[in-house]
Amino acid sequence: MKFFIDTANLDQIKEAQDLGVLDGVTTNPSLMAKEGITGRNNILKHYVDICNIVDGDVSAEVIATDFEGMVKEGEELAELHPQIVVKVPMIKEGVKAIKYFTDHGIRTNCTLVFSAGQALLAAKAGATYVSPFIGRLDDISTDGLELIADIRLIYDNYGFETQILAASVRHTMHVINCAKIGADVMTGPLSSIEGLLKHPLTDIGLKQFLEDYKKGN
Ligand code: E4P
Repeated sequence: MKFFIDTANLDQIKEAQDLGVLDGVTTNPSLMAKEGITGRNNILKHYVDICNIVDGDVSAEVIATDFEGMVKEGEELAELHPQIVVKVPMIKEGVKAIKYFTDHGIRTNCTLVFSAGQALLAAKAGATYVSPFIGRLDDISTDGLELIADIRLIYDNYGFETQILAASVRHTMHVINCAKIGADVMTGPLSSIEGLLKHPLTDIGLKQFLEDYKKGN
């Protein structure tokens, strides 16, 4: 399972990268705005900065919602750095744009996916990644994990190569349950990755080992 971090914060990206388990980064316009990154040139530069920190894929989202606009922006984003994956929303024009990018060797992440049908369409168009937003489904009393399981089943039925990128992950149990279902990737905040570390018995055991070592040395 690949671990992506869902942030545009360079310090957090560095911290996750230093842990040695980071496989990529996802961003979106809201995450960019949260870091105060505004204006096209600053945003493009920020994507390059992120690529220079991590080894893996970095999702960069198009803002246009028409086919021509998405293609123009996506081509510009893809040229920024070989690690860039163009993030395209799950709308009709987006599906057309994903197909275009697929045919032109540009990798894509189909975002804002909330149903199995949308995930099927993304795979048919050849998306590299599909991003079902599980946290946002949970927020409206709909089981996000059930969607991951449905997409896994559908993709396995037909051997679709589109990778399931469980997005809108909020906590460690999301990560563990996505791993059990077989999501290819998860993207979440640093806390969802670091939370995997924690167990009181580890802390108690280590404390005991160190105390016992001190007694004999
Ligand atoms: C996915 O790529 C999105 O950036 C993200 O996971 C959305 O998460 P949120 O629902 O916590 O905003």
